[in-house]
Amino acid sequence: MAASGAKRDKHFPLFAHDNLLRRLFSSPRKYCPYVKQDQIVADLGCGPGYYALALAESVGAKGRVYAVDSDEKAIRTVERKAAKRGYHNIEAHASSAANLSFIEDESVDFVLADGLLCSMAPQDHQSAVNEIKRILKPNGKAFLMAAKGSMSYVDKAEWEEILEGFKVERRNYESFLEDRWALVSKKHQ
Ligand SMILES: C[S@@+](CC[C@H](N)C(=O)[O-])C[C@H]1O[C@@H](n2cnc3c(N)ncnc32)[C@H](O)[C@@H]1O
Repeated sequence: MAASGAKRDKHFPLFAHDNLLRRLFSSPRKYCPYVKQDQIVADLGCGPGYYALALAESVGAKGRVYAVDSDEKAIRTVERKAAKRGYHNIEAHASSAANLSFIEDESVDFVLADGLLCSMAPQDHQSAVNEIKRILKPNGKAFLMAAKGSMSYVDKAEWEEILEGFKVERRNYESFLEDRWALVSKKHQ
């Protein structure tokens, strides 16, 4: 993963992440089947919490969701929504996914990185991938999703390189319509 200059994290208008159109085509509960009650989840690049809130409901009061985004506005929105719903199991951090020092080693059952790597500064990708490996439990799973196209910070070659560092449980291959995605776990040496 070569560093490619000083590109910066992309941040988005919050309405782009939660609107009627999105709800029609992609349920906020999309990733809930990957988690169980009481589990620990990290939603990296969580935006205003489209998936994080549903995941918090699924893991229940004894579980926890770390909601992490480098956009402070998005994190304040997650906190506001969690308070409104009375959820106390979301720990929101305005931080880059390249440094998750507030999450212990091998403590997370499920990492979600939907849209993270394609939006985050390329020079930080390797650190974020290392952090995902560090925080995942030995039997934990991570769902990685990266948009394609000229606006994306992840090209096909980098995507393949990232996946080589994991055990790939399921993935898609180049398809015209779909973004790149993979369900992965840690490689055990
Ligand atoms: C395409 S959006 C996806 C948001 C959310 N996962 C969703 O599906 O609604 C990408 C998100 O990654 C965040 N992001 C970009 N760089 C980041 C970084 N270095 N660390 C954490 N989040 C980052 C952006 O602020 C944005 O909220």
